[in-house]
Amino acid sequence: MYRIAVIAGDGIGPEVVNEGLKVLEAASAKTEVRYELEHYDLGGERYLRTSEILPDSVLDELREFDAIFLGAIGHPDVAPGILEKGLLLRIRFDLDQYINLRPVKLYPGVDTPLKDKGPEEIDFVIVRENTEGLYSGMGGVQYKGTPAEVSTQIHMTTRFGAERCIRYAFELCRNRNRDKKLTLSAKTNVLTFVHDTWWRAFNEVGEADYPDITRDYAHVDATTMWMVKNPEWFDVIVTENMFGDIITDLGAMIQGGLGVAAGGNINPDGVSMFEPIGGSAPKYTGQNVACPIAAISSAQMMMETLGEVDTAKRIESGVERALASGKIESLAAGRMGLSTSEVGDLIAGYAGE
Ligand code: IPM
Ligand code: MN
Repeated sequence: MYRIAVIAGDGIGPEVVNEGLKVLEAASAKTEVRYELEHYDLGGERYLRTSEILPDSVLDELREFDAIFLGAIGHPDVAPGILEKGLLLRIRFDLDQYINLRPVKLYPGVDTPLKDKGPEEIDFVIVRENTEGLYSGMGGVQYKGTPAEVSTQIHMTTRFGAERCIRYAFELCRNRNRDKKLTLSAKTNVLTFVHDTWWRAFNEVGEADYPDITRDYAHVDATTMWMVKNPEWFDVIVTENMFGDIITDLGAMIQGGLGVAAGGNINPDGVSMFEPIGGSAPKYTGQNVACPIAAISSAQMMMETLGEVDTAKRIESGVERALASGKIESLAAGRMGLSTSEVGDLIAGYAGE
């Protein structure tokens, strides 16, 4: 019996989380995976109502679950950074979810904006470091609001943090068993301190423990270029936090949009959290028009991570069949030709067959 914490959150979060849970239920009914859900009221609404973001006692409760399923965080009436840092990043950091795993996979039947590229060419995984870099929160501002204002935001890299992320990526690459190629994406020509740490960790770990994996390197600017021009060159990409944030949005676009892009915040030895990477999309809130597939695929990643491979496969096959059915006109919010819940019903039907 798994215990799963559900944080539906803001905006379209609750709508897409519902569909993720619907499909999870349909798939697990067949595989006899048992779980219980606990819903947490966290996010912008609660903050506006009570000034609470994430009470320490709730954070401690979250540590005790097998997994966390998150919808979206972000509210138009809350200043930028408050919920992001106080809730999303706090969970990632305090639960030491040091990997942000973001597959970029184009399913048959889905349009990509890349000309002449299809599912054969677009199938790789981005491993984003999730607890360090520019996200560390180190730095500050002095003389704010005066002509002498000075602000810093420190890119913090530890050898430990880079190395554990790199090791995870090598392992993943080995287990995927495809091109067996791991690309480090960084900026070693400019960030000659922090990315030199990454570069040496990458090569030392690769040489010592992963001789079967080809090591490849691309500067991050060039990475964005190759992701558009030759996405088939990538098998697994490993990168630091900020660059990973940026290139995974590009990845989402080439796999069909934010509506299908799933992610996992992974602590390989602890509690992981799964979320669609798209955000709260306030303008579509409450209209039953947002694409729930990213949330559904996040539930799939959650089952994979828990080791429930059959349930995960059922969910993925449900998604694949729905996308191939031609019944979903587009993955853009408001243009699916079906509502959020109808897409969930369709996929749940296949996943539970
Ligand atoms: C993401 C988001 C977050 C990030 C924001 C909401 C803090 O963009 O999950 O990619 O920057 O990591
Ligand atoms: Mn992002």
